[in-house]
Amino acid sequence: TNNFLRHVESMKLLPSGAGHISHLNAVILGESLATEEDDFVLPSQDFASKANVQSPEQYLKMYKRSIEDPAGFWSDIASEFYWKQRWGNKVCDENFDVRKGNIKIEWFKGGITNICYNCLDRNVEAGLGDKIAIYWEGNEPGLDGTLTYSQLLQQVCQVANYLKDIGVKKGDAVIIYLPMLMELPIAMLACARIGAVHSVVFAGFSAESLAQRIIDCKPKAVITCNAVKRGSKAIHLKDIVDAAINDSAQNGVSIDVCLVYENLLALKREATKWKEGRDIWWQDVIPKYPTTCSVDWVDAEDPLFLLYTSGSTGKPKGVLHTTGGYMVYTATTFKYAFDYKPSDIYWCTADCGWITGHSYVTYGPMLNGATVVVYEGAPNYPDSGRCWDIVDKYKVTIFYTAPTLVRSLMRDGDAFVTCYSRKSLRVLGSVGEPINPSAWRWFYNVVGDSRCPISDTWWQTETGGFMITPLPGAWPQKPGSATFPFFGVQPVIVDEKGVEIEGECSGYLCIKNSWPGAFRTLYGDHERYETTYFKPFSGYYFSGDGCSRDKDGYHWLTGRVDDVINVSGHRIGTAEVESALVSHPQCAEAAVVGVEHEVKGQGIYAFVTVVDGVPYSEELRKDLVLAVRKQIGAFAAPDKIHWAPGLPKTRSGKIMRRILRKIASKQLDELGDTSTLADPNVVNQLIELSDS
Ligand code: PRX
Repeated sequence: TNNFLRHVESMKLLPSGAGHISHLNAVILGESLATEEDDFVLPSQDFASKANVQSPEQYLKMYKRSIEDPAGFWSDIASEFYWKQRWGNKVCDENFDVRKGNIKIEWFKGGITNICYNCLDRNVEAGLGDKIAIYWEGNEPGLDGTLTYSQLLQQVCQVANYLKDIGVKKGDAVIIYLPMLMELPIAMLACARIGAVHSVVFAGFSAESLAQRIIDCKPKAVITCNAVKRGSKAIHLKDIVDAAINDSAQNGVSIDVCLVYENLLALKREATKWKEGRDIWWQDVIPKYPTTCSVDWVDAEDPLFLLYTSGSTGKPKGVLHTTGGYMVYTATTFKYAFDYKPSDIYWCTADCGWITGHSYVTYGPMLNGATVVVYEGAPNYPDSGRCWDIVDKYKVTIFYTAPTLVRSLMRDGDAFVTCYSRKSLRVLGSVGEPINPSAWRWFYNVVGDSRCPISDTWWQTETGGFMITPLPGAWPQKPGSATFPFFGVQPVIVDEKGVEIEGECSGYLCIKNSWPGAFRTLYGDHERYETTYFKPFSGYYFSGDGCSRDKDGYHWLTGRVDDVINVSGHRIGTAEVESALVSHPQCAEAAVVGVEHEVKGQGIYAFVTVVDGVPYSEELRKDLVLAVRKQIGAFAAPDKIHWAPGLPKTRSGKIMRRILRKIASKQLDELGDTSTLADPNVVNQLIELSDS
């Protein structure tokens, strides 16, 4: 039985061509603005009538099939791609229940394919060779470039040939540490072409974080560039890579090849530190290689990439995705959640260093033969109108971003938006954290001129693709709700005992069955995979998120329920920040919690106990922040250091974060029971030091 399916079936189905729904407190696009908390926002009839999925009934029909006949549903879609050899007799082979043995997820096993071939060669063969694959926009206005599908294929082949030449083989790891240059998706696709496993590390991570990842996956090569401009500042990435490679060598992992793209506008070749024999300039070697390169065919279950993400312990987790299921899933979610049409110009502001950039800058769009805008710079450089300048310049039709950007642009005022036309826009998207209804409305009313549905896509590094998302032509939306599950996904809300709760409720969000894009393991640690995701609630994948379902069946994500915080859509483990803080010799102990932050969603709030005798000082505060920047990266810098003579602990020594969260958010009348603390007095001391 499927509770969700029963639930939607029991809902009063909305008539198709949503325009004339009167029993819903409807706001018809273009005629009035969405203001009330519980309003439904409907796609216009014009939008719905042209959409890939046009009505709730059509969604329901497809959804039902995807649940009742997943093999048929997904193999029909998979057949649209090129397979050198079709998969075996099982479309999906899974064990989702730890009580029945090890967790195993396999899709299209035995199928032989290549995702790079499906992204590029297949599209070129289908006549899209001259279609623009990438519009690249540099940090400086006026600096740009384009690549057609044929050109992209040629460049990918050159890099693939080079990688083969230096001995990178199927299954080998390659670390990519690049900013948003075209070379980043090129490098990813080149790895995929030869069956190498890429691990992209966001170029905002510090040398220490990069070293940690190098040590874990032991790559055959590192691909980077010498420097990058962030706003008006040049950051010397190559220095960071050098430091990381040295650090790795001391830990027994040596790197023989470092391929360096010369980013001329940020730093000249001569000014770049160099290690002869190991370092090689991209521009010196890549153009010499042939522009065709045969494909290494792989099994659907061969690994495609590793992407490290934060968990509740200090050690990042290497999320492993495989080829076939991920390919089918990212392509399908992209097509439906954004109502993709071949004429669209699509821009996702995410960096390829995060999962969003993997699934929805590179693979999902290119599998659909889409034209993608890749922007190198900061969204508010040189001013807060830059995004809309770019939208107008390329006639962007689908714009996908994070709530934190929406909130920061909203704060800067409407004038930066309204002075651009934006009339090309037709679908907006949001990802990374819950979007608060007021930011949703601003995005909808001001950016989208009350014309463009917003796909608020809930998903995770682990899920590979969208899990709960509106299909923009099908469902009326509610500002702030991610709405309903994607095809094949069975979300359930469980209580703390793991019992499914039905109807209107809140609890922990779990998924009941596998979907093609699911991650298959944590690299080198299948046990942690099972413990973190499948043991908390046997029989389910546990997302780590809280969720409520309203009377209409809409899903509202409420944020992480574990020790992970979400800062500007970046996932950060509190344990990682704590371990960076205590690495400072004057820090005795640290406890980190998330607090509400107007722009970032959550801010990082750190309680710090100093070593006996060390005075509190502004200098120490700065040093502590610096320690975190150095160990993790600037994006993880604490917003607040709160001096703590002691931390609230239970008699068994466990820090009571619940109390710290209340102190951090100044909810002092909600501290709850403090009598179980080893020393209840600690709480008063902390409150006194609140504003110091
Ligand atoms: O808490 C959820 C939040 O981001 C987490 C996943 O982070 P990450 O793996 O870095 O992937 C981010 C991009 C997919 C989730 O556990 N999250 C992501 N999207 C949403 C969201 N929370 C609410 N609404 C969303 N649309």
